[in-house]
Amino acid sequence: MRLDFYIAHATGLSRREVKVLIGRGEVSVDGDLRPRASLQLHSGQQVRCRGELLSLPGHRYLMLHKPAGMVSSTSDRDGASVLQLLPAELRRDLHIVGRLDVDTTGLLLLSSDGQWSHRITAPKSSCSKVYHVRTARPLTGQMIEQLCNGVVLRGEARPTLPAQVERLDACSLRLTIDEGRYHQIKRMLAAVGNHVEALHRERIGPLPLDPALLAGDYRALTDQEVALF
Ligand code: URA
Repeated sequence: MRLDFYIAHATGLSRREVKVLIGRGEVSVDGDLRPRASLQLHSGQQVRCRGELLSLPGHRYLMLHKPAGMVSSTSDRDGASVLQLLPAELRRDLHIVGRLDVDTTGLLLLSSDGQWSHRITAPKSSCSKVYHVRTARPLTGQMIEQLCNGVVLRGEARPTLPAQVERLDACSLRLTIDEGRYHQIKRMLAAVGNHVEALHRERIGPLPLDPALLAGDYRALTDQEVALF
């Protein structure tokens, strides 16, 4: 890889900024302070910028406890993005692995690895999602049965796949679904004549939200957690 590409990738700086640094003698390759921007690097060569050893970032995998009021988007166009909760050096190239609505809380995964994310979100992966749902009205036996069997969402013809439903109290339930349709949980509850008051994602596939994370907190996934998908 060319030196200027390498530094841009390692630091997030533009190639123009990198060229300025090289021109100022702030970059060294194996101690040489006058490398050319076009230098082809070989593996094992040490590139330093202002004395700091650079390395190419690997993929990043994070879990975030999404608070209410922030959008699951990498831009702030539609409101404050959850990326604002991360330090700038972690944000680069991250995407969101399965969005949550602005008022939904809970487990949100972020990664720079598109193939990994695809394994989670692709419809045929059938990766289950577990939600804690609080409803506006008491849940009847009939509503629970309909949710279990699958319901037809407004504007769609194909019913939802059977869901697992655990009634927790008169107005709350734990709902496990194997699909990811647009506003699926809210539309499922609307389809049975109820309304979602609060929604929280507890788990994606085998990965639960770390209970040590408060709303707004994040942490890197462990290698074992990454390998779950
Ligand atoms: N279903 C919804 O309706 N909203 C979410 O945020 C997630 C699932």
